[in-house]
Amino acid sequence: MDFSIKTFDAKSTMNGSKTGCLVVGVFENKKLSAAATALDKKGDITAALKSGDITGKIGSSLLLRNVGDVAAERVLLVGLGEDAAVSEKAYLQAAQVAARTLATLGASDAIIALPDVKERDTAWSIRTVVVAFRESIFRADGLKSKKDSSVSGVKKIAFAVTEADAATAKIALMQSVALANGMDLTKDLGNLPPNICTPTYLATTAKKIATDYKMGVEVLDRKQLQALKMNSFLSVTNGSDEPPKFIVLKHMGGKAKDAPIVLVGKGITFDSGGISLKGGAGMDEMKYDMGGAASVLGTMRAIGEMKLKLNVIAVIPTCENMPSGSATRPGDIVTSMSGQTIEILNTDAEGRLILCDALTYVERLKPAAVVDVATLTGACITALGHHNSGLFTRHDEAHDKLAAELLAAGKQTGDTAWRMPIEEAYNEQLKSNFADMANIGGPAGGSITAACFLERFTKAYTWAHLDIAGTAWKSGAAKGSTGRPVPLLTTFLMNRAG
Ligand code: BES
Ligand code: MN
Ligand code: ZN
Repeated sequence: MDFSIKTFDAKSTMNGSKTGCLVVGVFENKKLSAAATALDKKGDITAALKSGDITGKIGSSLLLRNVGDVAAERVLLVGLGEDAAVSEKAYLQAAQVAARTLATLGASDAIIALPDVKERDTAWSIRTVVVAFRESIFRADGLKSKKDSSVSGVKKIAFAVTEADAATAKIALMQSVALANGMDLTKDLGNLPPNICTPTYLATTAKKIATDYKMGVEVLDRKQLQALKMNSFLSVTNGSDEPPKFIVLKHMGGKAKDAPIVLVGKGITFDSGGISLKGGAGMDEMKYDMGGAASVLGTMRAIGEMKLKLNVIAVIPTCENMPSGSATRPGDIVTSMSGQTIEILNTDAEGRLILCDALTYVERLKPAAVVDVATLTGACITALGHHNSGLFTRHDEAHDKLAAELLAAGKQTGDTAWRMPIEEAYNEQLKSNFADMANIGGPAGGSITAACFLERFTKAYTWAHLDIAGTAWKSGAAKGSTGRPVPLLTTFLMNRAG
């Protein structure tokens, strides 16, 4: 799919544009958007509204041919609801309806001329359309011998903007396509089966990103992890024949002396639970337990393509969690890289065991802030469902600021997070009779005690944790990776870059 920007000077209209389809908005109560009014010289659009063929309600649409005095072959009317001040929801649904309709047209190109959205800029509108269109053509059929229905219809999409907006629109478009490419990478990695998407495969992917976007990359193997005393991470790998990897991918787009933002992604390429084996139902979905790693890699790809002027380092501990005669047992005690000892009461709480050593490792990067991203707990799904990722930080001024930035980036992109508490009271639940802490805190507040566990390894810097267990993929008929939280992370970094 090819996107471009088309400028129309204020005086002329789009009537003369020879294109397969012009997409314009209409409202309930038979009101037209400015672009629709411009195309309505002969009253065809007004007539369509009057006839009741389109209500103008959010999500409604009508395809017209041979609209009087309009050079375009078709005009697609999309409903934007009651209000002339278009809401985000109305715009998003209009974009989705347009994507669906254009995919089945005989036309090869189209121009989108939708009105501005309340309190959102042109960049927001362009990103919303690009992501919705790319979402609509995404397929997960790479391993099917017969491909799913191919995408037909419109392949070239132009955005109609005014001369004054053209320069910013071009940049926004480049960034939106980069974001969509990053999301596609995250989805592909998540959807790949665990016999293909191994720790070694993630390392190879990171190396490819490094080559493509001129980043630095380092992949540490078991021997090097032993030398670093990452015994907590290594304990998770004991039952698996797949070699663990520790990936460090550096995008140094900012000034050399600027402290980097560090993104840490949980990279469990399959989580069987280990000796604390999971039930069989839906266990295949634990291939998505590398969703944190996948979203960090997708974000790196996006900012690499954007050439973002910011120093960002991705750190990914990756391995499998498997049962075997050499697997870690419940009751085993390990000494983490930080020196703190951990009694492993449940081998299925493995995410925190690999992340804690990564969080200690990143101290040496002297980070401006660290954000870890993990499909960490089923309890987070119970708490927040599939709409919001869980956001955890300490509660002080610096962390409130970081939390606000992440929440705002989520709102900006519809990839939202919800803040949860970290408090001393929950820490009580991590007490162990035999080690500095246990790796589980009981069933109550499971996503919070998991975050409290991680917090103990992050005292040296400003840190936030995103639990994406409920948001990184969908179950059921629409099973598949969502690409979240790449929009949140990428936008957070873009906002930081200014
Ligand atoms: N990867 C899982 C968390 C998870 C579960 C994500 C379901 C998405 C869907 C994690 O490693 C895990 O198994 N967590 C346990 C923790 C428990 C043993 C304290 C959980 O959530 O049940
Ligand atoms: Mn687990
Ligand atoms: Zn897990």
